[in-house]
Parts: sequence; structure tokens; C-alpha cells
Amino acid sequence: MVIKTKEAHGYEGWLRYRKVVNEAWLKKNERFFRGVVTLDDSLLLHTAKEELLRGVAAMLNKNLVDATNQEQVVILATCSHYEDVHHAIERATFNELTDDGYIVKTTEEKDSLLIVGKSDKGVLYAVFHLLRLIQMEENLEHLNIVENPKNSLRMLNHWDNMDGSIERGYAGESIFFENNQFVSNLDRVKDYARLLSSVGMNSIAINNVNVHAVESKLITPEYLPDVAKIADIFRAYGITTFLSVNYASTIEIGGLETADPLDANVRRWWQEKTKEVYDYIPDFGGYLVKADSENRPGPFTYGRNHADGANMLAEALEPFKGIVLWRCFVYDCHQDWRDRTTDRAKAAYDHFKPLDGDFNENVILQIKNGPMDFQVREPVSPLFGAMPKTNQVLEFQVTQEYTGQQRHLCYLVPQWKEVLDFDTYAKGMGSTVKSVVDGTEFGYKYCGITAVSNVGNNDNWTGHTLAQANLFGYGRLIWDPDLSSETITNEWVRLTFGHDDFVVEQISSMLLDSWSIYENYTAPLGVGWMVNTGHHYGPDVDGYEYSPWGTYHFADWKGIGVDRTVETGTGYTDQYFPENAKMYNSVETCPDELLLFFHHVPYTHKLKSGKTVIQHIYDTHFEGVEQALSLKKRWQQLEGKVDETRYKDVLARLEEQSEHAKEWRDKINTYFYRKSGIDDEKGRQIY
Ligand code: GCU
Repeated sequence: MVIKTKEAHGYEGWLRYRKVVNEAWLKKNERFFRGVVTLDDSLLLHTAKEELLRGVAAMLNKNLVDATNQEQVVILATCSHYEDVHHAIERATFNELTDDGYIVKTTEEKDSLLIVGKSDKGVLYAVFHLLRLIQMEENLEHLNIVENPKNSLRMLNHWDNMDGSIERGYAGESIFFENNQFVSNLDRVKDYARLLSSVGMNSIAINNVNVHAVESKLITPEYLPDVAKIADIFRAYGITTFLSVNYASTIEIGGLETADPLDANVRRWWQEKTKEVYDYIPDFGGYLVKADSENRPGPFTYGRNHADGANMLAEALEPFKGIVLWRCFVYDCHQDWRDRTTDRAKAAYDHFKPLDGDFNENVILQIKNGPMDFQVREPVSPLFGAMPKTNQVLEFQVTQEYTGQQRHLCYLVPQWKEVLDFDTYAKGMGSTVKSVVDGTEFGYKYCGITAVSNVGNNDNWTGHTLAQANLFGYGRLIWDPDLSSETITNEWVRLTFGHDDFVVEQISSMLLDSWSIYENYTAPLGVGWMVNTGHHYGPDVDGYEYSPWGTYHFADWKGIGVDRTVETGTGYTDQYFPENAKMYNSVETCPDELLLFFHHVPYTHKLKSGKTVIQHIYDTHFEGVEQALSLKKRWQQLEGKVDETRYKDVLARLEEQSEHAKEWRDKINTYFYRKSGIDDEKGRQIY
């Protein structure tokens, strides 16, 4: 019964495995599923086979039996079995495979499907790929797929606390922790591992980057046996477990008086501690660290820098091939709002750029996509490409902290794609963010993409059913940043809601339009914030204006925006490579959507669109509400075409969104009308 409720809510996510009833498809493709041949044995191959059997049983109603002869079967093999399958695949194709890569090939003479991984992990990914093709009812007769992930690290960070709460979580409580313990039933963790692995994710940090007292003990024998159990589950799905650690652990749990990274006792403590962690989890990934950031401890206390801090941990992890993910989210959160010389946007670059080359080889700097904090619109962090000698990983936020908290629909794949495609010019034209973080530009040893998860223990994992698309999309996109938003969206909708053309079109377009809709009725033109303090939901234009957090819009009666130019502003624009520095520094060439991030302009300033800033604010806010209402109307047309529970769940959220969008519209428009005294050209109601 419980399971049924979960099913109705969409607990299976995109792994629903609906029975395929398309006769034409079955007629052509059923023949490949007479049995299975497994040419290897390992934990991951075991998982791969289990997943294959499960998917094929559900979708095709067939029990795949173990076969010996290779006709009309699915063959699972790693590259080490080249000789057994070489008749079907050229040596050169094998050689194209990189770690985690795979081949899915139809061997036409034998009517078999060959699933070959560079390693067993590749086999698992290939199985999920094949299952996806079946559910999408793609023709399997002439497959010749070679897939290699573009990013080697494909990670999620959980901001879960051991009391069960999730910092910035909008889908219930933690799936790992409750009452300062690990949850006793770990079935859900396994189901989560399946979802992540099915889109190619390979690493996870299970606890919040803000590591409080209890979580500091995760690296002690009190909790390590439980961490090891979680790691066991993830391992079977090719996912490596990491922990966020407290930089001051030597003091908090180690009985030392200092956390000075150059102190011999501190270093020794970390070395012994790390060895202990590996005794429990031999393939442990390493540590994720938020240090000297938002009141967390760090090396600054001891007059040391971030390289000193990170290298101390790197040294402890190095013998075990572990890595340190060291976050660059470092800025002054006790700023005086009257101080116009300090610019939070500049902080990460100022702190880290001078340290390029000082970090050990197994340190990766983890950099948020923008210089501020996951706003609906901000420029790309200038740190990408600026540190050729230091491994970098990009951090996104799948959880919708500033983008509607999973009560509003805001599909982030298009936003992430803009970030990944952004040209840093680090090595001349074409040095995109994606080619920096995948290692192409500077040959980083460790690199890739990570993100804050949007998952909790709600039946549907993400609160808003349609927010599952962000998790799926994130995984697909970091596997291959060249996939289009449309391709990813189409896959998710069809896997999750079936193939009815109208349903697919409606949901896809709702998703693809949603980011810009959300942007329309919230903070304008890249200025950001304007949210209620603390929880960050809903509008408060001056919420952060006189706060210590460094997040200001500087609106007065004449104009709005942050002057970050070299000549008259904070000079932030200068942190970019010259092409971008020039573009952003000039009000003429700065793109409209980021104008107020970089410039303070009068309300009467004309945008490239031809509108004044004030009229743009009014227009987008009126339009945004209409668009939010249209999301609801579009969804209502799906009544009866989408199962009832999911239909109602989503409808309730879209209703809240359209009402709440009005709140945003009226607060923002009224605020700027009162500040500027300028009427709306169209004479609409402003209060
Ligand atoms: C944001 C968020 C915090 C989080 C921080 C971080 O500021 O609001 O909750 O701790 O980012 O990324 O560390």
C-alpha cells in the first residue's frame, strides 16, 4: 500500500519502467531479449545485470535467462573481454573509450545487443542507457553508440544535517539522517543511488558543508560504520562517497588546541584520522571543505592561507588517492553596507587567484557558477580559467534556494547550459567554462562538476514533481554538456509521463519557459537578491540592502544597480579576461540581462531592447504574472492525461506560484514606482 502511494507520487522518478505496449516497436525489437550473457563478474556487473533484468521484466514482461549462446541476447562485457566480442566491434572503437565510457551496439548477424564498458562501471551506465532507449521506444535494430562522459567528476553535495533537517532543502527531511543518527531503513538510499547512477553521476558528499558539532563526528568510529554502510550501497552503483569535514576538527573532536595547518601535531592528527576513515571505507572519495566562509573556521585564524589549509588535508588523503574539494565561497559576511569599496563579487578571485600553483595535486577548488550565490541571473565566476595550475570543479545548485524553492517551477538546465557555454577567453576564443572544468584547457588531473542536491524524503523526492527534471537534467548535462536543453527535456518528460504528443509538448515547453518566467517577476536585470532574509523565499526589495552580507542593489530615486566598472565602480569587471572585461565594463556592450549587476543607471536609461529600465521592470513583472498563470492553464489542459496524484500535486504548486508571482510583481513594481515617481506607460495598476 505504501509503495503504491509512492508510485502514484512519482517515487520511481524517471525509472518508472512502464510496460511497452507499442506493437510495432515490440515486433521489431522484442527479439533481442531472449536471454543475457555476462562475460565478467564483479559487484558492478552484478548491479548492471540486476538492473537489466528488472527493467526488461517491467517494460517487456520478459525474464532474461542466462544464456550461453550469443544469439538474440543482451551481452554484458568489459573491455577486458575484447577477444570474445571483437567480431562485432573494431579495435579502434574500443580504444576510443575513456574511463566510464561504453558501447551499445546491435550485432545484426546475431540479433544481439552488445553492452561493453571500458570498465564495469561503463557496463552499468550502458545498461541504463539501453533501458532508457526501451522506455523511449527507440528502434534498437541498428544501434552503434559510443559514449564517454565529458567530465570525470560528476557529483552531488547534500546539505543534510544529522538531525534530519536539510539546509535549503525543499522536499522534506534527509534521506540519510534522523535524530542525529543514520536512518535505519536504507532502501531509499539504494533507490536514490539507482536514480543517480542511471544518469551517470559518480560521487556524492552526504552531509552539509556547514559541519556542526554532531556531523564533525562523522569521521570518528561512532559513525564511521554507518558511513561505511552508505558507501557500500553507493559503491554498488559506481558512486564514491565523500564527507564534508569541519576544518577545526582537531579542536572539536581531536583534543588539540589548534587547527593551524602548519602545526606538526595538527598534520599528524589528520593523517591518522584519514587512515582510520580508509580502514572503514577503502575507496572513500575524500573531504569537502567550507573554510573561512560564513563564519566557518579556517586557516585565516592562524595567519595561513587556503593553500596551507587545503594542502594539509591533501597530504593526509594522498596515500589513499583521496581528494580535497576546497570551496571558494569565501567573502566577508560582516561587511558594513556603508562601505562602498568592498565588493563581495570580487572576493573569491581575490582570495584564490594569487594562490594558483600553490595547491597540491589532489586539491580541487570548488567554484560556484557565479561570483555571488546561485541567483536567478548572475554572470559567470571570473575564476573559471583564471587558475591554469589549479584543478577546478564547477558548483551548481539544483536545490532551488533562490529560484522558487520547488514551490515555483524553475527548470535550470537552460541556465546551466549558458554557464557551461560561456567563453572565458582564458586561452583565447573558445575557452568555454565546460572546456575548463572538463580539463581540456589546462589538463587538470581532477575536475568536473558538482551541485547541491534538491532531494529529500518526500514521496516524490523533490517536492515539486517537475523539479525531478532538474535532477535528471543535471546528471545528463554534466555527462555531456553538449546535449541540448530540448533533448534532455524531451527524454525526461517521455520517461516520466509517457509519449502522448500533447503531454510531451506541453510539459516540455512549460519546463523550457520556466526559468525566464521566474526571472521576469523577480529581481530585474541581474541585480539579484530582493528576497526575504534568512529563508530567501518571496520578495523583499530591501531585505538585504542594509545588511552585512554584501548583497546590495543601491536603488535610490534616480537609479539602480551596482557600479562594478573599473573607472567609477568596484573594478570587478577587471577580473575577467580582456574580451569579457571590456564587454561588461561598458554600459553600451553589457548585455541587458546583466546590466544592473555591472552598472548603476538611471531609471530612464534605454536598454538595447529599446525600453527604459523602469518600463522594463514594469513590463516584465506584469508579463511574468501572466506567464505564471499560463503555466497553470497549460497544466490544466493535461487533466486526465496525467495520473491524478501527480496532476493534483503539480497543479497545487502552480496555483501557489501564480498567486505568489503577483506578490512579487506588486511589491517590485510598487517599490520602483514609489522610488522613481515614473508612471507605467501602459497605465496598469501599481500601488
Ligand atoms: C548560501 C546558502 C547557505 C549555504 C551557503 C554555502 O549562502 O544560503 O545556506 O550554506 O550558500 O554555499 O555554503
